[in-house]
Amino acid sequence: FNISRFQEDILDWYEKNKRDLPWRQDQDPYKVWVSEIMLQQTKVDTVIPYFYKFMDKYPTVYDLAEADEQDVLKTWEGLGYYSRARNLQSAVREVVEKYDGVVPNNPEELGSLKGVGSYTRGAILSIAYNQPEPAVDGNFMRVFSRILKVEEDISKAKVKKLFEDYMYEIISKEDPSSFNQAIMDLGATICTPKSPMCMFCPVQEHCRAYAEGIEEELPIKSKK
Ligand code: ADE
Repeated sequence: FNISRFQEDILDWYEKNKRDLPWRQDQDPYKVWVSEIMLQQTKVDTVIPYFYKFMDKYPTVYDLAEADEQDVLKTWEGLGYYSRARNLQSAVREVVEKYDGVVPNNPEELGSLKGVGSYTRGAILSIAYNQPEPAVDGNFMRVFSRILKVEEDISKAKVKKLFEDYMYEIISKEDPSSFNQAIMDLGATICTPKSPMCMFCPVQEHCRAYAEGIEEELPIKSKK
């Protein structure tokens, strides 16, 4: 597995094919944060109108911190998993009180905020702050279990940890933001759970599962 060729191929592809999404207009860490929370259990197409509405009502951490909780939940209505909205608002209040309204740019402080797990933390640090931090979620593990032919059960916490450790080596140090978002786009558009479109894949030649014709058998997942 040639890491620098892989980085080059995936970054080239992303540059030409990246999806034009509202949270990609700038690198505001607050916007990246809100989008990642919304995207956790919800598809991109569903999230887009909610993201616009949310940013219209609460354009900064201060607006969200000061908002009435019922009002926030009302804005969230239809997205489901309302604890996401409650945790987000309570974490944003902490950012205003403890960090002068600046979203922390280090793993310790960021990760201590309510609702910010290892995936969200890595997404914010890489996308908004250009830090080479992995953002490993289910999509990410699907893509890399195929590329690297990982036959371990990805629902195990231990396996997620192994992916995260290995990602520190693979992630582009020049452009970690594009690298992580490229993997997200690849997983959403090409390396899909069913019938992945390997013939259009920019990293086909790096993929062990493709080479062996077992892409549809991976990942292995016991839970859900
Ligand atoms: N899924 C999760 N995070 C995403 C992002 N930032 N862009 C596109 N899809 C995503």
